[in-house]
Amino acid sequence: MAKLELHNLYKKYDSQVIPVKNVSLEVEDGEFLTLLGPSGCGKSTLLRLIAGLEPATEGKVIIGDKNVNRVPPGDRNIAMVFQSYALYPHMNAAENIGTALKLRKMPKEEINRRVREAAQKLELNHLLDRKPGQMSGGQRQRVALARALVRDPEVFLLDEPLSNLDALLREQVRAQMKQLFKEQNKPVVYVTHDQTEAMTLSSKVAVLYDGIVQQHAPPNRIYTHPANQFVAGFVGSPQMNFITLKCEGNTAILGKSALPLVDITNVPSRIVLGIRPEDLHLATPEDEYVLQGKVFLVEELGKENLISIKVDDSDLTIRALLPTDRNWEGDKIRLALPLQQLHWFDVETGARVGK
Ligand SMILES: Nc1ncnc2c1ncn2[C@@H]1O[C@H](COP(=O)(O)OP(=O)(O)OP(=O)(O)O)[C@@H](O)[C@H]1O
Ligand SMILES: [Mg+2]
Repeated sequence: MAKLELHNLYKKYDSQVIPVKNVSLEVEDGEFLTLLGPSGCGKSTLLRLIAGLEPATEGKVIIGDKNVNRVPPGDRNIAMVFQSYALYPHMNAAENIGTALKLRKMPKEEINRRVREAAQKLELNHLLDRKPGQMSGGQRQRVALARALVRDPEVFLLDEPLSNLDALLREQVRAQMKQLFKEQNKPVVYVTHDQTEAMTLSSKVAVLYDGIVQQHAPPNRIYTHPANQFVAGFVGSPQMNFITLKCEGNTAILGKSALPLVDITNVPSRIVLGIRPEDLHLATPEDEYVLQGKVFLVEELGKENLISIKVDDSDLTIRALLPTDRNWEGDKIRLALPLQQLHWFDVETGARVGK
């Protein structure tokens, strides 16, 4: 058992720069937690606090029931993969992978066995004699991953380990990684600003913005029930549409439709409606809630087209994903608004309202 717990962690560099604000998270054995957020939101700083590379200003880091605040990084039994790989240039891949085991004075045969096993899993066998300078970025990245795997630590920390790979290789290594960490059954904390990585790899995602955890939940929950407008806009591609609407009684007014505000108590005078482009479809005559408009831009995505529509009698634009079987440019279209898939947010705070 090596549960990782963070209790009310703060990091202050000065009164202005506070990249980690009151972060509390738990990561169980075998759980893959991704810290997801835009550049500068405090992801790497939080990881460095867990690793002990930076002291926390306030709060506790607990690994397997032990408070490690005062334990130096080398004694925390953590394996960290850095974005920059941090390989030793004078060592070949095998030596790089086994270096921590050698420091632990592990017998040579055992080191060799573990290095070969990790290399096999990451398809590095043929590269073990090469130095980092003789390898591609993707190969170096996999050596850095193998080096973390052989250590058998209590916790894995990974800081954007796939960011230097091309799209295809990233997809391959991502799948390998998911399998490898499943076998390890240890807590993993993974940092990325790539939402696809976060969604595909994680058992839970913590969306970070301005040093604050905005939402901590399984990926699917984050997608279907974003806790606030920031999360809703950050997760999902193409991005969710947001429209500010006036409220009347228990409804929000969009063109000719009065959309019922179910489960919302104390209806405000205005509210933000969120709709994902993939949740909009062409309306049939039976659809009760629709919006009408004219297509002014079509972006081809291959499988579908991303259509931009100017909504009639307003200056609103909205984007929808529609089939590729028709040339939409200039068309007048009617889109159904699926009540089950509408998201509502507070105009002032951006917090989710309703269910
Ligand atoms: N040593 C430091 N001294 C002062 N400010 C720092 C220091 N290290 C980081 N910061 C600031 O803390 C904030 C968070 O930085 P951090 O590196 O954690 O961001 P990040 O989420 O990892 O971003 P990226 O996705 O770009 O890697 C930034 O505003 C950064 O400028
Ligand atoms: Mg970073």
